[in-house]
Amino acid sequence: MIHFLVLCTGNSCRSQMAHAYLEYFCDTSKIKIYSAGIETHGLNPKAVKVLEQDGIDISHYNSNHVDQYRDIEMDYVWTVCDHAAEHCPVFPSVIKKIHIGFSDPAKAVGTEEEIIQEFINVRNQIKYSVLNLIHELELPVNYNHTKKTILPQSLATAELHQYLLGSVSPRPIAFVSTIDENGNTNLAPYSFFNAFSSNPPILVFSSNRRVEGNTTKDTLSNILKTKQCVINVVNYSIVRQMMVCSVDFPHDQSEFDFSGLTKADASQVKAPLVSESPVNLECEVTDVVTLGDQGGAGHLIICKVLCLHISQTVLDDQNRIDPHKIDLMGRMGRAFYVRASGPNVMALPQSQQLPIIGYQNLPKHILQSEILKANDLGYLAGMKSWPAISESIQKTKELNLPTVKSTEEFHKIARQYFDRRDYDTATHILNLLNS
Ligand SMILES: Cc1cc2nc3c(=O)[nH]c(=O)nc-3n(C[C@H](O)[C@H](O)[C@H](O)COP(=O)(O)O)c2cc1C
Repeated sequence: MIHFLVLCTGNSCRSQMAHAYLEYFCDTSKIKIYSAGIETHGLNPKAVKVLEQDGIDISHYNSNHVDQYRDIEMDYVWTVCDHAAEHCPVFPSVIKKIHIGFSDPAKAVGTEEEIIQEFINVRNQIKYSVLNLIHELELPVNYNHTKKTILPQSLATAELHQYLLGSVSPRPIAFVSTIDENGNTNLAPYSFFNAFSSNPPILVFSSNRRVEGNTTKDTLSNILKTKQCVINVVNYSIVRQMMVCSVDFPHDQSEFDFSGLTKADASQVKAPLVSESPVNLECEVTDVVTLGDQGGAGHLIICKVLCLHISQTVLDDQNRIDPHKIDLMGRMGRAFYVRASGPNVMALPQSQQLPIIGYQNLPKHILQSEILKANDLGYLAGMKSWPAISESIQKTKELNLPTVKSTEEFHKIARQYFDRRDYDTATHILNLLNS
């Protein structure tokens, strides 16, 4: 059990609100929340009122003195006002002290309405800080309470668009070149894009009606006329030039000129390839599916790949695409992008065939661990079987493990190996506890 204390001067409003939100958003079977004051001023009724407005009842909470909790080994102590931070008694065993202070709404002056508004402001700041702390400290979460439920029709399209983009993320980017019947070339990025079939080889991207003005895009109109396009991939070295091509140019002005990217002839279609892109996929458009006629509605453009051009500079010695060499960019919500190379690209081998161990069959000491993380358990659940104990004894010989097998100590050591992605060593260490 994790023990978390929130402290302020009088345990009257700020610490009570933080206490309430922590209790509401955390999984209280794994974390116990306390709040206290250096003095006790009694529960402030306005704090009760503004929390009730947010659906949380704290009318049964008491104002407690910090001395009451001196004997509990606190993992976290959070001071929510400067006075408490300065006068916080020493908790010798506390793992982490946090200080995020808030102004005291009880000191607000003005009309009743203005004072309540100040309480609401501080409540909202505290709520945001609690959610932030839960995320940062990886506190156990009550998933039912942390999730906001939204019906699409309750949001403006632009707002819904951002939630969809932030959630379906990162997305690959189709950098689509097309040509019209007069030979005008066009180049534009589309991240509503993916591969959907290998046989036949089908890619789909969506050209949406603009939310403002409800107009359609040049890529769509060219494709409706020619039924052809080239999908070029976007790597780090051309990401800025790609962005230039997302500007809304008049139809007869070419993005190639504005971005400085170079055209090359395709072999199967009239639309040009982007020379600088490491992979170009020449496509025949087999279908366009219109999803609506309002701003934001998509047109699914279904593309059959006729020919692939892959730069050999991005291949490994097995002739496979090396993610670090191709260095692709992904689109996220708002102006965020991700560069898919370097330490964040990881190989996660996992058997696709039964048998696997399964979460439900993991040993109790692992299922009940407060140290191991969900991904550690996920890795173990996906293993085909545990190694033989003799092998684990052999493999851990040189690690200087403590001679007394304390579960907690062993889990902490295994955790460090998981963090370094040394899954084998972590498994062998945990396996010693299985014997
Ligand atoms: C990275 C990126 C991804 C984009 N993805 C899409 C998309 O999936 N669908 C869409 O309609 N517009 C998307 N856009 C906006 C279009 O690129 C933009 O409207 C462009 O001007 C369209 O050009 P066009 O009229 O020449 O086709 C994206 C823009 C960027 C920068």
